[in-house]
Amino acid sequence: MNEKQNTKHKLYIETFGCQMNLSDTQIVQSIMLDAGYLLASSLDDADIILLNTCSVRDNAEEKIHNRIETLFHLLKKRKTKNVLGVIGCMAERLQNNLLSSNQIISIVVGPDEYRKLPELIKLAFDDEKNIAVNLNSAETYNDIIPLRTNEISAWLSIMRGCNNFCSYCVVPFTRGRERSRPFETIINEVQQLAKNGVKEVTLLGQNVNSYSYSSDISENNSPKKFPQLIEEIAKKTPDMRIRFLTSHPMNLSLELVEVIAKYENICNYIHLPVQSGSNRILDLMNRKYTAEHYLDLINLLKNHIPTCAISTDIIAGYPSEKIEDHHATLDLMREVRYSNAFMFRYSPREGTKAFSENDDVPEAEKIRRLNEIIDLQNKISLEENQKDIGLDFEILVENPSKKNPKEWQGKTKTAKSVIFDNSEATYKSGDLLTVKIIKATSATLFGERI
Ligand code: 5AD
Ligand code: SF4
Repeated sequence: MNEKQNTKHKLYIETFGCQMNLSDTQIVQSIMLDAGYLLASSLDDADIILLNTCSVRDNAEEKIHNRIETLFHLLKKRKTKNVLGVIGCMAERLQNNLLSSNQIISIVVGPDEYRKLPELIKLAFDDEKNIAVNLNSAETYNDIIPLRTNEISAWLSIMRGCNNFCSYCVVPFTRGRERSRPFETIINEVQQLAKNGVKEVTLLGQNVNSYSYSSDISENNSPKKFPQLIEEIAKKTPDMRIRFLTSHPMNLSLELVEVIAKYENICNYIHLPVQSGSNRILDLMNRKYTAEHYLDLINLLKNHIPTCAISTDIIAGYPSEKIEDHHATLDLMREVRYSNAFMFRYSPREGTKAFSENDDVPEAEKIRRLNEIIDLQNKISLEENQKDIGLDFEILVENPSKKNPKEWQGKTKTAKSVIFDNSEATYKSGDLLTVKIIKATSATLFGERI
């Protein structure tokens, strides 16, 4: 346990990357508050600035390097002492190189060492630079309640790390081996969230459906798996909407599909990254499934949950990808008809298996293929959204839309955003209401209250 500091130092965290990082930021805030530090409302108000970083693609890291450079100039002008730290995946990947790359950085802390932050920050104010990047496959931050500011929706990480070693991916190196949080603690935390009025929980993990927790290693005590966990949460908190991210196709079982189908409060939405539609590329990527197997899973989902929305991740231009491999990806997209997709061009990451392969798809061709994928997905998203016109959906009201404060947005159980008129402020965040869809774009539905 950290000793409580008697300090007026104020912390501000900028978060990059995925939902896991957003959730980790809340864990770090909680650790720091517990140790006696304060939270700043803005960068201007802070003397401790942490960047919680992402390494998954080169452009993510480049953005962060630029941000460090900007902060270097900004903090140099300040008269008081400031501490700038880099935490998260990039800290784990670059380690000492970060400390030597910019004199302004005084701490570098990886994803499994956040408990050390209060002490390392104290030392940094005494001009001692430090680095803490050990991975620890026992660390789940199980006892730490994240500092949640959104009163309606909560993230809850149930497992950390990844054992899959997809050939292109740096995550197993930056976040270490898979480990799951104890079953009972997760259930208790969701029940507490429900008591506090939270309406939606998103269970998080790099590979959420490989959740496996055993309280006792004796033979007759089989581990609790993800379908059991999500079923228990659905039963114990029937008014809570339940989402989960990210699922690996290899861990999508019939049992899980049946549980999603059975409970009204488990959202009809799954993020199931496919990465490529070519079996040759899938094999090189070490994804451990074929396009046919993946399509069988999609059929299983659609048969059990006809209204299920499915989203995915796709990589364009993996080493040795030929035009026919690319076309296989487009064909698969046409067959699945994703509601939404996150699409990237391949970015070589040092230390991964793919890094030693020849990155032979020219950059311009990667971009061309990526644009083709994006254009196709936009067309499919629009067509899928247009199918919702005339249908009624229950939405969870979130917030005013950015463009017009009289129009609010909410989410369907299929994770689609719906804009509706709230000019008389009839609805507030967290309300449930049923709307009829009257218009649709590729990104948004527009609804009318009924
Ligand atoms: N290059 C491009 N995209 C990548 N992703 C992971 N590693 C890479 C890489 N080296 C994508 C995958 C993954 C998502 C989180 O990021 O599609 O599912
Ligand atoms: Fe990376 Fe593959 Fe693990 Fe996802 S499942 S984090 S893509 S190694």
